[in-house]
Amino acid sequence: MSRWLVLGGTRFLSREVAAAAVARGHEVVCAARGESGPVPEGARFVRVDRDDDDGLAPLRGERFDAVVDTAIISYRWVREALAEFGDTAGHWTFVSTMNVYSDLSRRGDGVDAPLLEPRYTDPEGPEDFGAYGSIKVASEQAVDEVVGDRALVVRPGLVCGPGDPYDRFGYWPARFARGGRALVPDAPEQPFQMIDVRDLAEWIVVSGERGLTGVFDASGPAMTLGSVLEEMASAVGALDLELVPVSTESLAEAGVMPWQGPRSLPLWLPESHHGVVDRDTGPALKAGLRFRPVAETAVAALEYEYALGIERERQAGLTVEEEAELLERTDMTRESGGQPRVAGREPANDRE
Ligand SMILES: NC(=O)c1ccc[n+]([C@@H]2O[C@H](COP(=O)([O-])OP(=O)(O)OC[C@H]3O[C@@H](n4cnc5c(N)ncnc54)[C@H](OP(=O)(O)O)[C@@H]3O)[C@@H](O)[C@H]2O)c1
Repeated sequence: MSRWLVLGGTRFLSREVAAAAVARGHEVVCAARGESGPVPEGARFVRVDRDDDDGLAPLRGERFDAVVDTAIISYRWVREALAEFGDTAGHWTFVSTMNVYSDLSRRGDGVDAPLLEPRYTDPEGPEDFGAYGSIKVASEQAVDEVVGDRALVVRPGLVCGPGDPYDRFGYWPARFARGGRALVPDAPEQPFQMIDVRDLAEWIVVSGERGLTGVFDASGPAMTLGSVLEEMASAVGALDLELVPVSTESLAEAGVMPWQGPRSLPLWLPESHHGVVDRDTGPALKAGLRFRPVAETAVAALEYEYALGIERERQAGLTVEEEAELLERTDMTRESGGQPRVAGREPANDRE
C-alpha cells in the first residue's frame, strides 16, 4: 500500500483513477473543490481551489508515493503542484492530450511527432480554449524539468465511458437505444481509436505502482468509425433501429459539425484531425494498457446516459428536431432524384 495524491478525483478520469487506486489497496487523497461530485468511497477528500493563490496550502507538508495530475488547461496549476510535491513524490503522472501534436492530420505517428509551441500563460476565458494543446506542451515540459526521472506523461485520445462529462461518445448509445431511423455520418472508413476511462485509469495506477516513466499515446486499437457505430448499435440499439448514412458533404452543407458541440455528429472527424484517432499506441500496449470491447463501453455509457436523463439538453450531438429535419431533407433529395447525397447502401442492411 502506498499514499496517492489525485489532484481532482471528483469527476470522470481523475475520479476513476482514485477509485482504481483505492481498489488496489492504496491510501488515496483527492484534492479538489468538491463541485463536480463526491470522491470515490474509501478516498479522503481535501478541499483545495487551485485557482486561489497558494491553493494547495491545505496539503502542505504531506508526502505522497505517487501523484496524479490531470490539470486540464492550466500551466500555473501544474507548476504549483510540482513546486509543492515534486521534491518528495515517488512517482508523478501527468495526464496530457493528443492535442499537443502540431499536425493532427498525420496518421500513425507516435510520441516523437512534432509538438505545438508551448504556451506558458493560462487562457483568459472559454473563448481561448484553442490554447489547450500548447498549454499541455508547456505543462509536460514543466513536469519533465522537475520530476522527469520519475514521470509518466500520458497523452490520451478520446476517453469514453461512464461519467463522461462531454456528451460525445454517449450520444450514440443514447441515440441507438431510442431506435428508429438514426442519422450517421457516411464515413465508415474513418480511422477511430478510443479508450474506456476505466481501462485508462487502471493502467495509470498500475503504471504508478511499477514506476513506469516516459511519454505514451494512450488509446485503444485501430478501428473504423463504421465498425464502432455498428458495434454500439448491436450492443444497445433498439429493435427498430435503422442507421441512415448521410454524406459528409451534405452534413457540412447543413451546418452539422464534426466531433463535438451543438448540432454535431460526435466522433466524426475531418481528415485534418485523423491523427487524433490514428496513433501508434503499440508502446502503451507493451507497457500494459488493456482495452475492453466497445460494446461494454457502450452499455456502461448508456447506463450513465439514463442516469443523467436521456431527454436532457446535450452539449454534443443533434437534437431530436435537428435529426428529423436532416432526415427529411435527405429523403426529399432522394425522392427528387437529385444528386443523391445519402449513401447508396440500404440502411437496414448496414448492421448485418
Ligand atoms: N475526455 C477526453 O476525451 C480527454 C482526451 C484527452 C485528454 N484528456 C485529459 O484527461 C484529463 C482528465 O480530464 P477529465 O475531463 O476527466 O477531468 P478531470 O481532470 O478528471 O476532472 C477535473 C477535476 O479538476 C477539479 N477541479 C476543477 N477546478 C478546480 C479548481 N479550481 N481547484 C481544484 N480542483 C479543480 C474537478 O473537481 P471540482 O470541480 O470538484 O473542484 C475535477 O475533479 C485532462 O487532463 C484532459 O486534458 C481528456
